[in-house]
Amino acid sequence: MTLRLGDIAPDFEADTTEGRIRFHEWLGNSWGVLFSHPRNYTPVCTTELGYTAKLKPEFEKRNVKAIGLSVDKLEDHHGWSKDIAETQGTSLNFPLIADADKTVANLYDMIHPNASDTFTVRSVFIVDHNKKIRLTLTYPASTGRNFDEVLRVIDSLQLTDKYKVATPVNWKQGDDVIIVPAVNNEDAKKLFPQGWKELRPYLRVVPQPKG
Ligand code: BEZ
Repeated sequence: MTLRLGDIAPDFEADTTEGRIRFHEWLGNSWGVLFSHPRNYTPVCTTELGYTAKLKPEFEKRNVKAIGLSVDKLEDHHGWSKDIAETQGTSLNFPLIADADKTVANLYDMIHPNASDTFTVRSVFIVDHNKKIRLTLTYPASTGRNFDEVLRVIDSLQLTDKYKVATPVNWKQGDDVIIVPAVNNEDAKKLFPQGWKELRPYLRVVPQPKG
């Protein structure tokens, strides 16, 4: 199944390092980041899981829960967790799905047979509090993902859900933003009474709205 932005993230039930979960119930009212790993006991994945564990306070600030997936057995996940704690300086503090029968991997199209017919690629799904898919990323096994970028996208999504703005290239928290083209100048005056910098009629820059 092809999953697209705006689709409801498929629900599933799975065993994880934190017990059996139903995905939607586990998400509750939170946003979620579901991400896959090619396999256990691999170096790049070990660094990604350690770094994501370190980011837990940042995810919590944004009402986001992280959940990883690897197509290995739960017993192997527990053994690997010890290695992650010892080598990365942080224990796993979010669930890792044991998807040995590839049910979830297939549901989310995480196996790309022309890359590998056995292991998942590095997929990322950002899911919002309505269970809608808001971002998908696909990286090859040999390239570790940038989880600071995942946080940056969450910041952009949560900001642009709240205000009629979009975020420009390389935007980060606190940088100027762009008034969306759907807002005409008359409405923009009400929404942004402090005014904006008009570089072109379609390129109107304002300070990031706060609050
Ligand atoms: C890794 O996580 O290190 C890895 C996994 C599969 C292929 C290459 C690297």
